[in-house]
Amino acid sequence: MRAMQFVMLAICTVSLLRNSSAQPGFISIDCGTNGNYTDPVTNITWTGDDGFISTGSNIANLPTAMQLQENKKQMSSLRFFDDSRTKHCYVLPVEASGTYLIRAMFLYANYDKEATNPIFDLAVDATFWRTVDLTLDRDVTNSWFKPTVLEVLVPVENSNVSVCLLRTSSVYTPFISSLELRPITGTSYSYVKKSRSILENVGRFNCGPASNSSLIRFPDDSFDRIWLPSDENSGLPTMSTGGPVAASDNMPPSLVLQSGWISDISFSFYWKFLPPASLYYAAFYFADLTNSSDTRVMDIYLNGKLWSADVNTTAFGNSYHALSISAEVVAMGIANFSFDKSSESSLGPVLNAAELYAVLSVMNETTYEPDVDVLNILQARFSLLGWNGDPCSPVPWNWISCSSASPPRVTALMLSGVNITGALPREVLQLTMLVDLFMDHNVLTSIPEDFTPLVNLERLHLHNNHLTGSVPDSFEKLHQLKELFLDNNYFNGTLPEQLMNTSTFMITAYANPFLCIPYQYVCGGDNTDHTKLIIICSAGAAGSVLLVALLIYCCRRRRKLQPLNLRDRLGSGYFGPAYEIYSSDGSTTPVHPVMGTSGGGLPFIPRVDVPKYTYEEIKTATDNFKFQTGEGVIGPVYQGTLPDGKQVAVIPLSSKSTLTHDEFTAEVAILSKIQHKHLVCLVGYCDEPQRRVLIFEYMAKGTIRDHLYGKLSTSEPLSWKQRLEIALNAARGLQFLHTQCAPRIIHGDVKSSNVFLNEELAAKVAEFGLAKLREDITATSGFMISEFSTGEKLTTKSDVFNFGIVLLECICGRKTAKPAATTENLNIIQWVKSSLQNGNIRAIIDPTLGKNYNVEAMWHVAELALLSTDERAVSRPTMTQVVRALAEAIEIESGTFVAIQPSANSSVVSLKDSKEKDRERDGRSQRK
Ligand SMILES: *[C@@H]1O[C@H](CO)[C@@H](O)[C@H](O)[C@H]1NC(C)=O
Ligand SMILES: *[C@@H]1O[C@H](CO)[C@@H](O)[C@H](O)[C@H]1NC(C)=O
Ligand SMILES: *[C@@H]1O[C@H](CO)[C@@H](O)[C@H](O)[C@H]1NC(C)=O
Ligand SMILES: *[C@@H]1O[C@H](CO)[C@@H](O)[C@H](O)[C@H]1NC(C)=O
Ligand SMILES: *[C@@H]1O[C@H](CO)[C@@H](O)[C@H](O)[C@H]1NC(C)=O
Ligand SMILES: *[C@@H]1O[C@H](CO)[C@@H](O)[C@H](O)[C@H]1NC(C)=O
Repeated sequence: MRAMQFVMLAICTVSLLRNSSAQPGFISIDCGTNGNYTDPVTNITWTGDDGFISTGSNIANLPTAMQLQENKKQMSSLRFFDDSRTKHCYVLPVEASGTYLIRAMFLYANYDKEATNPIFDLAVDATFWRTVDLTLDRDVTNSWFKPTVLEVLVPVENSNVSVCLLRTSSVYTPFISSLELRPITGTSYSYVKKSRSILENVGRFNCGPASNSSLIRFPDDSFDRIWLPSDENSGLPTMSTGGPVAASDNMPPSLVLQSGWISDISFSFYWKFLPPASLYYAAFYFADLTNSSDTRVMDIYLNGKLWSADVNTTAFGNSYHALSISAEVVAMGIANFSFDKSSESSLGPVLNAAELYAVLSVMNETTYEPDVDVLNILQARFSLLGWNGDPCSPVPWNWISCSSASPPRVTALMLSGVNITGALPREVLQLTMLVDLFMDHNVLTSIPEDFTPLVNLERLHLHNNHLTGSVPDSFEKLHQLKELFLDNNYFNGTLPEQLMNTSTFMITAYANPFLCIPYQYVCGGDNTDHTKLIIICSAGAAGSVLLVALLIYCCRRRRKLQPLNLRDRLGSGYFGPAYEIYSSDGSTTPVHPVMGTSGGGLPFIPRVDVPKYTYEEIKTATDNFKFQTGEGVIGPVYQGTLPDGKQVAVIPLSSKSTLTHDEFTAEVAILSKIQHKHLVCLVGYCDEPQRRVLIFEYMAKGTIRDHLYGKLSTSEPLSWKQRLEIALNAARGLQFLHTQCAPRIIHGDVKSSNVFLNEELAAKVAEFGLAKLREDITATSGFMISEFSTGEKLTTKSDVFNFGIVLLECICGRKTAKPAATTENLNIIQWVKSSLQNGNIRAIIDPTLGKNYNVEAMWHVAELALLSTDERAVSRPTMTQVVRALAEAIEIESGTFVAIQPSANSSVVSLKDSKEKDRERDGRSQRK
């Protein structure tokens, strides 16, 4: 037999009548009302719920059943909670830790005219109590008028206990009609404290009640337990007395003990339909009212097995002998107790009162106290009202997440877009288990300096606030950090460069008009050994509408920007997002458009990342400028050999240049940081008074113009396949300038003589960034430009136009464009266009190609060239789209292209048969 624990108490004194009006420690809340009143039946003082909860809405004057006597007034009002909060808690202060009786009543009364009995959960502190499922009342109409009464005994260790209503579905609205708290004093129900569990009352009966007896509670029962008359065993004889029976400690009131069942041999008493629980707890109360000295000893059986032997209730002396016995009960569905006269007893069994409890959850650990303190500070500071009860358990407040540690810790603060203002309290830093701190879309003005205590932080969202001051260096020390969003604030100073060098997280900081931002370039495509930084500042002038928008994707060295391959995701049309950054794991990040400003200039000088040479060294390297290999934007280009043997192209600057030392250094610094596989890189410079020189990598095979129609056109002609590869690589270089530099760089002088080839015939674009590097230089800036009308702003689309001309040259194998826009250019574009419209592509193809090309690929490139040279800039593709189209052309050429249909934007249109005119119309309409 199971080990049982007994609480045996023999009480031999006659109790004094209690002062009936005292209600020590009682809290009696008539939910949905305000003001106090005293119930005339019980003398219990009821109060409204105002002092205990601040959420929810009241409703009063509800209909109650005619026959409802008890609690009729309390049931005629309720409080309901129709917002989206996960929990609403009544916080009840207690005078001392110990065991408390909590009774909650629910009478739906169709208050919301929905005629739907709701379902929701209840919790006590951090512990799930039970689901209140009023839909189980099939008799809907009746259940509207008959209260559901739930009562528990709970151990309380803090200075208050919270009773929470948990919303579990969007359909059902939690509500409550009344809530009572009663202290259980003395050693009564010590099992509650010992088991640290919630005990829910299943039944509490007054056995063998006087015939006119109704329920008995306060003031007769000092704990205000409600004793219902049992109508079981009505055939049994009863034993009763008119006098008082000892009633102290956990004993039922004298009124209950004054009568009971008796039998000569045996009787039984059972609970059917037990609520599901793995364990129950029963308490029986006996009083031998015979005043005889005959022995009364019994054995108690549970479901046929001995549960408690030799229960001796023998009366003695002049008083009645009252005794209680209580113990755990293991039962399934039914608990049938049988009370049998034991062999040595002269009298039969007796039973005066009985209680049964379901042992529910063990009390959950409440949230780590220091974390709760911080949450309370945040609530007070930000007027986040009405969040109470345990923050984490059994379900967390809507705006936090918690760990399942013991005790639970706060792991996320989710206060996005809740209109909180002012400083982020530094107490937040005490939430050391925080993983997510989401404070975006508020009106915060400052954050603490030192975030290092938040060692577990992975995501910090501070964007869209009014944050000022510098960006804390301490972010760098957050080794778990993955996302740091600072956009749309008023940070000033410089974004700490170490943030980008030492960490692996994504940081965004665009639209901070007073913040200087280091931007990371990744050099050389496949060669990612050196990551480089460039500092970009916006104008900084107050009231400036210029926006520096920037997304920085920080890559570890092993990560690299991948070549673009958008076809899978975007279909094969020319129209797709212009700006995207690619990481090696295949994920893409849209890049916010970057707009620089020429206004403020650079407030400090960035570091130059290439070596500086003396003029003497350069004279030696070039053999005193002996071999001129060409003429660039700036002037003649000389061939040279650096001391380390590296071949270079050397470009002296005009001695008339008015650039200051700082301005020149800044330009060189930026040039030195623009490193890409398909861009001719700066490898050194010289900065002596009147003797400034730029040194670039040497391109052994000259320009593609040389190969197409220049000095190498007969000796080293390019095949169609080679031309496609060269065009694609050059386009990638330009795309890098357009999309991955901040601010974006307009080449401004794209032409076939600026596309160079190295020993391996890999194409690299040269002469970029030699003008002002910003987008807003105009066509009058003194450099060669090809936009149609002078005075128009140079844009990335002017580079696309010029690139289109380069493509036409690749097809036609002859000079089709001069550097500046002329009627001749237009005529040639017109000529190509009309040839294509007539379906006669062969007329324009470079005769040196013979028949060694795929006509489909040729059409593809020809169309791309025409589209790129469209008069209207908006109709031209972006460089990213050009790159994609050229990659397609190469696939078509090599027969590996798989058309993705049926995109309306599909560029895979064949013009080769006779319906060119229709198609040209289609093509135009697609482009609009
Ligand atoms: C109701 O009673 C409580 C406790 O006795 C008291 O603090 C409160 O002021 C009373 N409220 C009203 C409206 O009388
Ligand atoms: C209620 O209190 C009044 C006054 O204190 C007292 O006369 C009355 O007997 C009490 N009623 C009960 C049921 O205790
Ligand atoms: C105890 O707390 C955890 C979360 O902290 C919760 O998931 C669990 O349901 C709680 N248990 C009970 C019985 O309330
Ligand atoms: C029962 O209790 C009475 C009074 O205390 C005592 O005299 C008697 O011996 C007890 N009987 C048994 C079987 O324990
Ligand atoms: C935010 O707070 C301000 C001032 O407290 C108030 O005027 C404004 O209406 C609030 N906005 C929202 C969306 O709550
Ligand atoms: C940055 O802003 C803070 C607060 O607005 C100000 O005190 C500080 O002087 C500013 N620093 C710079 C470099 O502008």
